Amino acid sequence: MKVKKAIIPAAGFGTRFLPATKASPKEMIPIVDKPTLQYIVEEAIEAGIEDILIVTGRHKRSIEDHFDKSIELELSLEKSGKDELLKMVRDISDMVRIHYIRQKEAKGLGHAILCGKPFIGNEPFAVLLGDDVVDSKTPCIKQLMDVYEEKQGTILGVQEVKTEDTSKYGIVDGLEDSDKIRKVKNLVEKPDPKDAPSNVAILGRYIITPQIFDILETTKPGKGGEIQLTDALKELAKRENMYSYIFDGKRYDVGNKMGYLEATIDFALKRDEFKSDLIDFMKKKIEDNK
Ligand code: G1P
Repeated sequence: MKVKKAIIPAAGFGTRFLPATKASPKEMIPIVDKPTLQYIVEEAIEAGIEDILIVTGRHKRSIEDHFDKSIELELSLEKSGKDELLKMVRDISDMVRIHYIRQKEAKGLGHAILCGKPFIGNEPFAVLLGDDVVDSKTPCIKQLMDVYEEKQGTILGVQEVKTEDTSKYGIVDGLEDSDKIRKVKNLVEKPDPKDAPSNVAILGRYIITPQIFDILETTKPGKGGEIQLTDALKELAKRENMYSYIFDGKRYDVGNKMGYLEATIDFALKRDEFKSDLIDFMKKKIEDNK
């Protein structure tokens, strides 16, 4: 079965990014001039996803507004002949079918995914986490979809992280299969480096079979008192084949202030309008700070 639907959980408080996230969704914070969530939605569209469910929460209404039509703005841009901007604004609302559901309580990532059960039904689906922005030639989630086509099992997008960082991620213990694909034996959510079975971390991209929903319904709160997707996946790996896949691309943790700064600089450097001015500015900064 082809993967056609995706869930993007966007209900979190964004506590790592306070005070910006006190009243504004972290997903709307822009990298250069585009909200982080739009990068994620564009990745899903480029991969061929047809329907996206965004799991939102309170104080997240601007997400819906962003992907909706903006009649007044469109009229004003039309009147003033700003055709390029008008096209940009229209394209956003015409992107793809986006659906919304509210996660009423902050019960964790696993619970957010469970909110998508009626939307997904009985098909494999993609999950893209908004804190992880991946810059790659082939969209990261498309890479996973291609592996799914071959393996027909749940696929976890992973890369190696520094050993001291294992406590920030779901960590995979796997058996060598090919260079990049491994059969998953076990999973641990955010282990201390001394207990981590490896330094291979799940970095916000998944293709998951619908059997996960039955498991999530009975998954007990785990790390941090939240219903963890990793715990449900660990159970799923006991019942069916699951694979980790080392995806190509540079991944930015944009939920973290330093990761966000790195993404902002790298994405600005990719734009001709900023590149040389930004390099000159940074050279000067380096000199001034010597
Ligand atoms: C979540 C998952 C974790 C995964 C991480 C990727 O954690 O629970 O397994 O490795 O995303 O960014 P969070 O960062 O939401 O705490």
